[in-house]
Amino acid sequence: MAMFQNSLPDLTKPPRPDGAEAPAVYIETYGCQMNTYDSQAIGGLLEGAGFRVVDNELAADAVLLNTCSVREHAEHKVISRVGELRHRRLEADLAPAIIGICGCMAERLGDDLRKGAKAVDLVVGVDNYDALPGLLRGLTGGGNAARPRGGAVTGHRHDAHYVAPPELYPTNNSHLVTIHKGCDYKCTYCIVPMTRGPQSEKAPEVIVEEIRSIVAQGGREVTLLGQNVTAYRCGDRLDFAGLLEMVAAIDGLERIRFLTGHPHDMHRHLMDTIGRLEKVCPWLHVPAQSGSDTVLRRMKRLYTAADYLDMVDYARRVIPGVSFSSDFIVGFPGETDADFRATLELVRRVQYDQIFSFKYSERPGVPAARLADDVPLEVKKSRLAELMAVQQEIWSAAADTLVGGLVTAVCEGPARRPAGAWRLRTANNRKVIVHGPEVAAGSSLEVRLTGWEGTTFFGESRAG
Ligand code: SAH
Ligand code: SF4
Ligand code: F3S
Repeated sequence: MAMFQNSLPDLTKPPRPDGAEAPAVYIETYGCQMNTYDSQAIGGLLEGAGFRVVDNELAADAVLLNTCSVREHAEHKVISRVGELRHRRLEADLAPAIIGICGCMAERLGDDLRKGAKAVDLVVGVDNYDALPGLLRGLTGGGNAARPRGGAVTGHRHDAHYVAPPELYPTNNSHLVTIHKGCDYKCTYCIVPMTRGPQSEKAPEVIVEEIRSIVAQGGREVTLLGQNVTAYRCGDRLDFAGLLEMVAAIDGLERIRFLTGHPHDMHRHLMDTIGRLEKVCPWLHVPAQSGSDTVLRRMKRLYTAADYLDMVDYARRVIPGVSFSSDFIVGFPGETDADFRATLELVRRVQYDQIFSFKYSERPGVPAARLADDVPLEVKKSRLAELMAVQQEIWSAAADTLVGGLVTAVCEGPARRPAGAWRLRTANNRKVIVHGPEVAAGSSLEVRLTGWEGTTFFGESRAG
């Protein structure tokens, strides 16, 4: 059952006394892993309050879309999904479902989402999921008929930290554990500080307790989540390195991953700790965003390309087998061709395993919205394509050199394709597909790499 960290009201209700079947809720998740975790917490909260969580929109009385605002496109997708959901119900001759918007769009747009042709029934922001059972009960007929239908509940609450049920099936064999929420950085392009509010930490004891329950349920791996996990700080007593030490001391836990690190907070002390703690996986997702100091300054990223490269060099020295991944934005306001070349240069220098690159998308109300969005769409598109091609070329060369080598990888379950193959992941986050007899999820194999495609390797188990 989902719980809160502090003293938020206990919303857990006993099962329906009338024996009627509980209303069914379908939850669909967009955006980052923090939303994935929140959807799990919402599911636990609703089940604890007597609802059924189903995996099919047509079987649901209510559909909740847990949304993302990071780029304009992410929001458009959700708006058109609302229309599609209604249409599919009509086509299937079903009564219209109650539709709710949760997550970052709910926080950004609030009651506006309850107006116009695509109006939804309820809107619940990232810190108010405890309002969902009451609102849904009113809308699904289980509540007081005099109650107003639906509503919008938004606004940040410093103390609202959700805890997802520990018994849930993990994402890629790793249990997500959000360690803090919000963000105090002010990267000028970014909507997250507005949608998620100020940074607020889940208490270290609560995090440790949550992970202990996961381990007690059979989990062996966790991914510590936050927009800026490396900025985790609990007063003067604990920083992120200290939290990693505490988590690594949990008996029965085997692997710890974390997302996302900010290059500005990747202190040497932290990298030393990551290198020293065997349970902490040697994989750093440290978004660079750009390789141009001028652009980085305008983005308020708080480091230069040289600082970033120093960080990478140091990590390579102290974290055995470390690999890197990153995010990049192309076409930030004022980005010149020379700025973009500096990004390509940085990508060549670092040799990432994987990068996620995006065209700059102006978000309303963020500081960069005051700058002219002056890089034409065609230029953004061609820079994006060039960046992806350069990464592909670098990764191809790197992947070729890895083929033939031995790696240790942990099984995550059956591969989607080909049939009869197994999906594994190495500590430094490389995916490997292995053919052969059944491999139990969670077990570790020594694998000889035989080839690769995209970001996935193929391999043969040495045992099989
Ligand atoms: N907290 C993380 C990630 C934030 S959002 C960090 O500090 O890096 C995930 C990614 O979306 C960002 O790393 C960035 O590359 C991209 N992004 C954020 N805002 C964007 C915008 N307005 N336009 C395009 N991409 C954006
Ligand atoms: Fe956004 Fe920057 Fe915070 Fe990341 S660190 S969430 S990019 S403001
Ligand atoms: Fe998107 Fe919100 Fe995550 S804007 S990236 S869902 S924090």
